[in-house]
Amino acid sequence: MQILQVSAEYFPLLKTGGLADVAGALPQALQPLGCEVRPLLPGFAAMLDGLAEPVEVGRCLTPWSQPLRLLRGWLREPAGASSASAGIQAYVVESAELYLRPGGPYETPDKQPHADNQRRFAALCWVAARLAEGFDPSWRPDLVHGHDWHAGLVPAYLAAAGSRVPCLFTVHNLAYQGLFPRADYEGLGLPAHWFRPEGLEFYGQLSFMKAGLYYADRLSTVSPSYAREIQSPEFGCGLDGLLRHRQTVLSGILNGIDERVWNPLHDPHLPVNYGSDSLELRAGNKAALQAELGLEVRPELPLFTVVSRLTEQKGLPLVLAGCEALVRQGAQLLVLGGGDQALEAAFAAKAAQHPGRVAVRLGYDEALSHRIFGGGDVTLVPSRFEPCGLTQLYGLAYGCLPLVRRVGGLADTVTDADLVTLDEGQASGVVFDRMEQGDFDHAVRRMLALYRRPADWRQLQQTGMRQPLHWGDAAARYQALYRVMLNSTTLAGGR
Ligand code: ADP
Ligand code: GLC
Repeated sequence: MQILQVSAEYFPLLKTGGLADVAGALPQALQPLGCEVRPLLPGFAAMLDGLAEPVEVGRCLTPWSQPLRLLRGWLREPAGASSASAGIQAYVVESAELYLRPGGPYETPDKQPHADNQRRFAALCWVAARLAEGFDPSWRPDLVHGHDWHAGLVPAYLAAAGSRVPCLFTVHNLAYQGLFPRADYEGLGLPAHWFRPEGLEFYGQLSFMKAGLYYADRLSTVSPSYAREIQSPEFGCGLDGLLRHRQTVLSGILNGIDERVWNPLHDPHLPVNYGSDSLELRAGNKAALQAELGLEVRPELPLFTVVSRLTEQKGLPLVLAGCEALVRQGAQLLVLGGGDQALEAAFAAKAAQHPGRVAVRLGYDEALSHRIFGGGDVTLVPSRFEPCGLTQLYGLAYGCLPLVRRVGGLADTVTDADLVTLDEGQASGVVFDRMEQGDFDHAVRRMLALYRRPADWRQLQQTGMRQPLHWGDAAARYQALYRVMLNSTTLAGGR
């Protein structure tokens, strides 16, 4: 089976969040199942740098006459991957005008969306449809798998070309929709009459996300709970009606974690490697982390941690407001994150108020994130909504117990500690229900009570660390879905 995977991010080349982790892990996880997955990526500098032995597949002009060059090459493996693992071939859309500029993949250096994002990602989607039609004579996909709004126009371009190649569209986060003014639709080379509510129009705007949801043959999202939640007005971001309409072709497949990258037994970023049978070794990582961040080096203080984009989604005002109580009860707080400027300033102010007890690192630091999971005691993820969430999975795998809100993938992956789940050996963290300060503060107190019971604490750590979190099951589910799609004779999308 030959699958073309379309995404804007790819770990280890370019990452702003969990999308990159998933896009980087899936091709390898599907390989042993007989699926050859080739990523198609936009030609950001990091993607071009990471493409080894590039060859030109061909040149073309987009419908709006933008010249593009398509490259094919091999992707660099993440550190820690075994040298025996086969490489991944990938395509990169090269256009200096579209992709080589200051700022991030989506935003300018002053955090405004790039003004031509509709063209930057339409070009990616348009090339995907060309590849499905045989643009690379040496390899043609049986199916295209697009991820998030950046790939939303893939099924639309396939439909416009009358292609029989089916498309799976995976939603990682419905809150980011790729909305553009109507005028931006012109020139993209799609039929004018598709700009309507039964198509890719969303209240007068072009919606890449809606195009994906409307035109793809099958839809998936990254946890069973989120698949249910997005069919409700509360979580549907205005698209719940369409999602209810398409519920029979919508699946929720829980993400896994890439054990080549996230395994405390051989994680190269950790001062001390350890496993579920040698948890006492974590003390060395904790002391090193406390020292590195200027926290008091005291093994007995519970170390609560956050590794996160600082955005509305993540529920971090609960952590800010709960900080005083946390410190008063003898805990430490360590935050690694970047994003919203008000949240950055508020966390920095907490660190200034509580030297030795609260430490904040603003920005993105992959290696430090590993040291935090390997040395911290608690991973805080109090999200408002969470399609899957990977940090609680890293917390589970590293014995840094998750404290999470019961929502989306968090609800699907963490088992709340109570007398019954402890007794049955199922408990793996602390889960609270409502987005309210009292609920969060109480969850912190429950976590602290567990911390004072070392045998229970160790049991929770071991339960999480022994849980199968690898990609195996999820990859098998994707493969089964691909099979169903290739075997169905009629296309289910809005084509
Ligand atoms: P989301 O994709 O919504 O940001 P996830 O939990 O799925 O949430 O994935 C976030 C990913 O980004 C994880 O791999 C996490 O470790 C990483 N991450 C988030 N913020 C930072 C940061 N400041 N430094 C390093 N890694 C980070
Ligand atoms: C999104 C979601 C996150 C999920 C990630 C990978 O960024 O916010 O919950 O884990 O995608 O699927």
